[in-house]
Amino acid sequence: MLSAPITATMCLVKTVTLKPSGHHFEVAPGETVLEAAQRAGVALPYSCRAGVCGSCKATLLQGRCDYPFNPPVALDANALAHHAVLVCQAVPTTDLLLEAREVPSVEDIARRQLDVRVDDKWRLAPDVIGLRLMPHDGEPPLKRLPGQYLDVLLDDGKRRSFSIANGPQPDGAIELHVRHITGGGFTSWVNDRLRIGDRLRVEGPLGTFVPREDSERPMIFMAGGTGFAPIKAIVEHFIELGTRRSMQLYWGARNEAELYMHALPESWARDVPNLQFHAVVSDAQPASNLRHGLVHEAVLHDHPDLSAHDFYMSGPPAMIGASHQRFFDAGLPEDRLYYDSFEYAPDVLAQILAGRAGIRHVR
Ligand SMILES: Cc1cc2nc3c(=O)[nH]c(=O)nc-3n(C[C@H](O)[C@H](O)[C@H](O)COP(=O)(O)OP(=O)(O)OC[C@H]3O[C@@H](n4cnc5c(N)ncnc54)[C@H](O)[C@@H]3O)c2cc1C
Ligand code: FES
Repeated sequence: MLSAPITATMCLVKTVTLKPSGHHFEVAPGETVLEAAQRAGVALPYSCRAGVCGSCKATLLQGRCDYPFNPPVALDANALAHHAVLVCQAVPTTDLLLEAREVPSVEDIARRQLDVRVDDKWRLAPDVIGLRLMPHDGEPPLKRLPGQYLDVLLDDGKRRSFSIANGPQPDGAIELHVRHITGGGFTSWVNDRLRIGDRLRVEGPLGTFVPREDSERPMIFMAGGTGFAPIKAIVEHFIELGTRRSMQLYWGARNEAELYMHALPESWARDVPNLQFHAVVSDAQPASNLRHGLVHEAVLHDHPDLSAHDFYMSGPPAMIGASHQRFFDAGLPEDRLYYDSFEYAPDVLAQILAGRAGIRHVR
């Protein structure tokens, strides 16, 4: 019997096995665990893909890995002591056994690039633009789940991520809520120059911030600013399903104008008996009746025990960073916190991280 020669490349290929599913896949030299998993059709949770948000955290049970790209900024000393790894950055140096959550609902959804046309552009708030994008020239609609995001592909090879604010539509319509970041290249261009009829190249769907339907637990949704976009898509999905699970929706912003679509969740709260809406503003507004403070503090005030809930949150990194541990301390199991953190784009993060010690390459 002839046996194939073992090549140097084959020796460099590492195998990752996941617990509890038993799924296993091969990782090519220089590839991250997340990239290899996606190539193999295994859906591990992720959001920023830059080592910053922590949503791709898994536990290393056997083996070793390296971080040749961005450092694992999201892992604190305690997480490292408990053998946590970030699969979006980890490159195996041996075969690995990992304990990792998976998101089977996104497994069969292939991502792709497509041209879209700006079908509508409107101002939602002084610094938030609404966009409706339609597939261009007979492109088939993007297959996707509520809550996922897309990347806008820029001419210089950079990408900018935006959550899709509506569920999948038969005509392929995609709604975005874009905050104008002061000094931000792309969002300034959207704010000042993008016109109806312009074309954009996008890639999607991305991310694993999607409805989890395999649960009967009450749900809390917490949005900060334009973090309302994916929460809107997920809540609309559960309303369409006719769920009887309790839905508590908290939307925090600096002021009332930034709660740019508050009439919509107010109408849900009127029409859907199991949904309550809580608007929270952080700037002091003596004349306003709105609840004042930080949105995660409002959640914890109303729900000091989170052990029975499923929790969805989305918004600025400061809000996500301030909330995590507080929610776990209130009894929320880690595997029931689903989130998207609206981090800087990977190239901006890479520049920031490259300024710190220990970075050999950035991506
Ligand atoms: C998964 C995901 C989903 C997202 N969804 C949305 C969404 O639905 N709506 C939305 O408005 N945004 C969303 N964002 C954030 C959005 O991608 C950034 O705001 C955008 O990349 C900024 O691009 P820019 O070219 O305008 O700014 P850049 O030119 O990249 O940045 C210029 C400067 O602005 C600052 N900056 C950049 N990004 C941010 C930021 N996010 N927050 C604060 N300061 C920043 C930095 O100091 C940077 O140096 C999402 C991000 C992620 C990762
Ligand atoms: S840290 Fe890995 S996806 Fe954000």
